[in-house]
Amino acid sequence: MTDNLDGTTPAKGVSAIAPKEGGGFPNPGLPPHVHRQADTDKRAEKRAEKIVAGMFVLSILGTVLFIASYFVFTPMDTNLLAEGGTLRAVFWSNLFTGLGLAIAVFFIGAAAVHWAKTLMPDDEMVEERHATRSSDESRDRAVEIITGGLQESGIARRPVIVTAMVGALAALPIAVLAPLSTLGPLPGNKLHHTFWKPGMRLTRDHDGTPIRADEVAMNSIFHVMPEGLTEETPHFLNERAKAAAVIVRIDPAIGKNEESLANGHQGILAFSKICTHVGCPVALYEQQTHHMLCPCHQSTFDVTDAAKVIFGPAHRPLPQLPIEVDAEGYLVATGDFPEPIGPSFWDLHKDK
Ligand code: FES
Repeated sequence: MTDNLDGTTPAKGVSAIAPKEGGGFPNPGLPPHVHRQADTDKRAEKRAEKIVAGMFVLSILGTVLFIASYFVFTPMDTNLLAEGGTLRAVFWSNLFTGLGLAIAVFFIGAAAVHWAKTLMPDDEMVEERHATRSSDESRDRAVEIITGGLQESGIARRPVIVTAMVGALAALPIAVLAPLSTLGPLPGNKLHHTFWKPGMRLTRDHDGTPIRADEVAMNSIFHVMPEGLTEETPHFLNERAKAAAVIVRIDPAIGKNEESLANGHQGILAFSKICTHVGCPVALYEQQTHHMLCPCHQSTFDVTDAAKVIFGPAHRPLPQLPIEVDAEGYLVATGDFPEPIGPSFWDLHKDK
C-alpha cells in the first residue's frame, strides 16, 4: 500500500489520498511514444498499402461473387447443384449470395481499419481542459488540422488505395440492384379490368345460379359473380377477387342519383364488393338506412347515392356495375366496372 502524499497512512481499502491543499498527484505525463513499423520503415509502409488495396480488391470480388451467384445458383431446378429440386437450389443460392455480400462488406470495413491503424498519422496529442466552446483561434486551428490531416492521410498521394476504394464502394450498390432485374412483369392495365363483360349473367356466389330480376326482393342483398368464372379460368382466384360484387334493391323513389339508377334495373343496383379503402369485402347492408358497411375500418357507402362515401377512411365510391335484364328475365352486365375496383392507387380519384 502507498502512503498518502502528506505522509499519513491511507484508510483500509484506499490506496492513497492526495492532501487537501497545495497538492494533487504529479502529472505522470504520457508514456514514451512507440512508432509503428510503417512509420519508420518504407518497406513496411508499402506492404501496408498493398494489404489495404488488396482488401478493397477482395471486397470487389465479393460483390462479383454475389452478382454471379444470384444468376448462376438461381433457385430453379436448372441449378446445377440442386439435384433434389428447388429447395436445394434455394440453399445454394442463399449460401453463395450471402457469402458474396459478407465478403464485400467485411473487406471494406477491414481495409478501412487497417488503413487507419497502419498508415494514418499516429501523433499523440495533449489538450488541457478548457471551456466547452473553443476560442476562435482554436477553431481556426482545428480547420487547419483537419485540412492538414487530409493532406497527411495521403489520399492525394495514394492513388492505388483511392482507386481500389472507389471501385469497392461503387461495386457494392450494384449487388443491391441485381435482384431488381428479376422482378416480375409490370401489371399493365390488369388493375383497370375485371372478368365482367357485356351480356354476362350475374350469378349467385358459390352455387353459380343466374339471378332473375323478379327474384330480387326489395331491400335484399345478393353476393354475385360473373357467369362462366370457374376454377378452370386462368388466374381464377385473382379474377374472383376482382369481380366480386353485390346487388341490392331499393325503391327507385328514394334514389338520389339519376345516373346510378339508370345503370341499374328498377332499383336493382350492382356495386363492387371490394372496399375502396384497402380492399376488404364490403358485405354488411343496413336495410333501414340503405348503407353498405365495410367491417375493417367502418367505411360507409350510401347505396341510394351511387355508393358515395358518407363515413370512414375510403376516398371514393364503390364502382357500380352497369346491369340490365336479358330476354329471359335474368340480370346481365352491360359492361365492366367503369373504373378500377378496390383501393385507390396512385391517388386515383381521391377528390371524389
Ligand atoms: S378496408 Fe374498408 S374501410 Fe378500410
